[in-house]
This record gives sequence, C-alpha cells and structure tokens, in this order.
Amino acid sequence: MSKALDGVRILDFTHVQSGPTCTQLLAWFGADVIKVERAGAGDITREQLRDIPDVDSLYFTMLNHNKRSVTIDTKNPEGKHVLEALIQKCDVLVENFAPGALDRMGFTWERIQELNPRMIVASVKGFGPGPYEDCKVYENVAQCAGGAASTTGFDDGPPVVTGAQIGDSGTGLHLALGIVTALYQRTHSGRGQRVLAAMQDGVLNLCRVKLRDQQRLERTGVMKEYPQYPNGEFGEAVPRAGNASGGGQPGWILKCKGWETDPNAYIYFITQAPVWAKICNVIGKEEWATDPNYATPAARLPHLKDIFAEIERWTMTKTKFEAMQILNKYDIPCGPILSMKEIAEEPSLRKTGTIVEVDHPTRGKYLTVGNPIKLSDSPTEVTRSPLLGEHTDEVMAELGYSPEQVSALRTAGAI
Ligand code: COA
Repeated sequence: MSKALDGVRILDFTHVQSGPTCTQLLAWFGADVIKVERAGAGDITREQLRDIPDVDSLYFTMLNHNKRSVTIDTKNPEGKHVLEALIQKCDVLVENFAPGALDRMGFTWERIQELNPRMIVASVKGFGPGPYEDCKVYENVAQCAGGAASTTGFDDGPPVVTGAQIGDSGTGLHLALGIVTALYQRTHSGRGQRVLAAMQDGVLNLCRVKLRDQQRLERTGVMKEYPQYPNGEFGEAVPRAGNASGGGQPGWILKCKGWETDPNAYIYFITQAPVWAKICNVIGKEEWATDPNYATPAARLPHLKDIFAEIERWTMTKTKFEAMQILNKYDIPCGPILSMKEIAEEPSLRKTGTIVEVDHPTRGKYLTVGNPIKLSDSPTEVTRSPLLGEHTDEVMAELGYSPEQVSALRTAGAI
C-alpha cells in the first residue's frame, strides 16, 4: 500500500529529541528521511544513557526509526557541496540546532532559497523572537518557561516538571503539523517557506487551559474546582492544582487496594455530573443523590475533598482494575494509573502497533512506541533506526557521485 507522504524527501538535520520526533513521524507517514550526522560521532544521543556498551542507545533508536543516515561534515568545503546537492534534491530541511548554527554553516534562508526555492525550512528553537531567542533550550527549560512547571505539582510544594516530554516531543508534533501544512500550501503557491515551532510556544499551547484559569482568577479571585477552594488561599497567579481535573468535571487520584506496597495502585476518578446518581449508588451513599448539599455540581464544589475521601473508601476495597470494571458498567469516567511495566506488557497496545518490538543488528530486540496517529490508508511499519552513516554510499550514488568520488570525499574527511 502506498504511504501518505510517498515521494516527500526530508533533509533531516535534527538531533537529540524534539527534531527527531518530528522527522520520525514524517518517516512513518512515508517520507524518505535522510538524517545528516557528523562522521565518527553522529547524533549525541547515540551514546547517551547507553544500556549496552558501544551500541546505539535506546534514546537514539526510539527516536530515529525508518530513517536513513548519511555522514557529512558540513563545515568542510567539499561536505558543503554534498549538502547543497541534498538541498536541491529534498523538499524539506528540518533542523533543531542552537540559534544561528545553520547560518554559521553558511546555509542561511536566502542561500537555501537560491539553491531550491521550493524548499521548506522547518526549525525547532527554544524561544521565538524576543529576549531569549538566542538561548539553547532543553525539555525542562521549555516546561518551566511555557507555564507547565508553575502549574504542576501540589500547592505546598515546589514547581514540578512532568514526565511527558511536552517540550521536546510536543514541539516535534507541532513542527510536523507545520511542515505538512507548508507542503500543502506549496501545492498551490509553488514556493517553500520557513516553519518555526518554539518550545516555549508549544508548551504554552498545551497549557492553554491554565491561561484560561489565569483570566478566570483575575476576574473572580477564586476557582472553585481547585483544591485551594474553599479553605486555602488564592494568590495572583494560577496555583498548582495537584491532581484536580483541568476541565469542568471534578476529578482526583484515589488509592486502590494494594496502595500500601504498589506505588501505582491508584485510579483517576471523575465525578461527572450526569452520572452522579450512579456514583452515589456504587459507593453506597444513595442519599447524596438527593441531598441539596450534594445533588448539584455547584453544591458539591465546597465538599469535593470530603466527596473524594468517601469515594476513596470504596476504591480502596478494589484493585484499580476491579474498580475500572465496575465503574465502566455505569459509564463513570475513570482511568487506572498504569506503570510503564504494565503499559509495555499490555496486549491491546501491541495489537494496534502503539507498542512495537523492533530488531536491531547490534542491540537485538527492544520495545518502542509506534506511530500514535493511525491513518487507514497509510499504515505504519516501524523499521529500526540506521547505524551511523549506514546509507552514505547509497545516498551519494542517488546524488550522482561515483564510488571513486565517494572514496575521495571520505579520504578528505568531507563525508
Ligand atoms: N558537520 C559539522 N558540524 C556540525 C554538523 C555536521 N554534520 N552537525 C552539527 N554541527 C555543528 C553545528 O554547526 C554547531 O556548530 P557551531 O556552534 O560552531 O555553529 C555545533 O555542531 C553544535 O550544534 P548545537 O545545536 O549548538 O549543539 P549543542 O549540543 O551545543 O546544543 C541544544 C544542543 C539542543 C541545546 C541546541 O541544539 C538547541 O538549543 N536546539 C534548539 C532547541 C531544541 O531543539 N532543544 C531540544 C533538544 S531535544
């Protein structure tokens, strides 16, 4: 079956996590992704957090599936020529270097346009134009600067970063959307364009509900679904809301049977208004369905802590999976706190290709997260990440270089 992005060639100048997540997605949708790396070293993540000596790390392999790897020294004059040939041949250049690095290599937007006016140049940067535009940025800096850290955690503790890589992988997703949108616009404009996804912007986009709450707080001085209500205090800025739901239906994380020894024996429980009577029945508090202090969402808000304590008395008598089964019967929204071990072993995720086992020539078999976006006419087959420079000869031949020229360039240290 053909793939959605068949025929699209990506010059992949990305490294670490944010850029590679973007180009990996494009590869999964069928684009030919040619990853440019420095000979001898390659993407720094090949050797970071290694679990097997001298073998590409899981950090690298899990972010670079379905790509080809070529080595080019882009600071070598001959290497620059090879890069120019690639720019002429490709549709999109994706990069996430520190600000200015591409220009310092000699590949300004103007130069790239000269070489290929249809080229889309897509960049991840830490910040957009402004006071921090020249800063290097990693995941947690973006989480802090994008509003996630100040709004995550508990009121009596420090700001907390989340394990979800919203700064890196989140921005990679934003960039991928920008790229396919620019490709679509090119079909009628005939021109390339620049695409920028700043990590601060990407995180803030994902924290949109917290900017909503900031304005609600400024208007009313109180947010009744936050744990600070009714006994705590609100300050000037959106506080950390613990495990409160970000939406209009109050929720919290509750202990389940076994919580004393299992750190993940918990369930997320949402007291959705339409099923309130069913919740009351399940936990044995039938009277709350008609009690004016509990019967309506507004009446419940000042009592949320007590309500969740009562529900927890019930959830503690069930495992998280038993509780799920019972609650689902009544359409009560809830979700188990799953450990990575449980997720890795979950058969349904294997079946859908969301968790995939991949074989690698030096690493052997390992698990990875497959394409989370399923297209019915463009299925994803996850193939292993390339070894460093594995496709240099193949790509050089496609660019029209003879084996003798390739060998001369290698001797000159250009590839
Ligand atoms: N041949 C020759 N030189 C190469 C090369 C190649 N194939 N590939 C990269 N380089 C050079 C670059 O030109 C740059 O050189 P310069 O600084 O002399 O201009 C140098 O390698 C290092 O690039 P840089 O991006 O500065 O790497 P770093 O390891 O110092 O910084 C980041 C890493 C992630 C902090 C930085 O790239 C960054 O802020 N990126 C944007 C935001 C981002 O994506 N962050 C998330 C990462 S998950």
